[in-house]
Amino acid sequence: MRKKIVAGNWKMNKNFTEGLALFSEVMHMANDELHNNQQVIVCSPYLHLHSLVQLSKGNVKVAVGAQNCYQAESGAFTGEISADMLASAGVQYVIIGHSERRQYFGETNATCAEKINIALKHNLKPIYCIGETLQQRESATHFDIIKSQIAEATYHLSEQEFAKIIIAYEPVWAIGTGVTASSAQAQEIHAFIRKEIAWQYNVAMADEISILYGGSCNPKNADELFAQADIDGGLIGGASLKSRDFIDIAKAFN
Ligand code: 13P
Repeated sequence: MRKKIVAGNWKMNKNFTEGLALFSEVMHMANDELHNNQQVIVCSPYLHLHSLVQLSKGNVKVAVGAQNCYQAESGAFTGEISADMLASAGVQYVIIGHSERRQYFGETNATCAEKINIALKHNLKPIYCIGETLQQRESATHFDIIKSQIAEATYHLSEQEFAKIIIAYEPVWAIGTGVTASSAQAQEIHAFIRKEIAWQYNVAMADEISILYGGSCNPKNADELFAQADIDGGLIGGASLKSRDFIDIAKAFN
């Protein structure tokens, strides 16, 4: 059975003190209220990561992820962080290719491919983000865009490597806008992604991969979204900054 995952992406929010307090709340609520069939992941800014890993030691329900890593092993890349550094601090997951990184920091499918490689090399599980802009949807190129985002960043991977990836479908027009993709729109794309993976790899692989939905997901719409056959959870932005909302979203799987 595919893993059910609810991941929070704090983006550039919460100072150190606020972040530790939020994470402690999330952990307590997850322990008290969530069943064991789901994985909660908190992707914080780099600053918080090591402390969050320490706080979550021995906790199987809540894991810690980063929001990015650099594609080189080490060296003169001022301000960047390496996959090795993240892994050595106990981080288990890393978001790669978020649309904000593509939009503001020039990341491409090719750089995402390099980041996925280095993440896997250091045993970090990549949460690879894909999704179309409003303009691409309106011009009906969204299927092609999504297909190339997957193909160019992941199809060089062996089956064994690809099996470690989590995919997050985040339509850019739904991120932080309050406009959620309808459950039918999201399901359509998730099923398409699974079909593409089956075509490139095999049906068993397509059945195994967790595909998350992201974009204005909240406690009110999570139930319906997560009830879709090919939606295995969510990548949550704004609502992950409030412990109650974040855990209520995860409870859609209870
Ligand atoms: P929102 O949930 O705030 O729309 O953000 C989604 C997102 O970008 C998660 O990575």
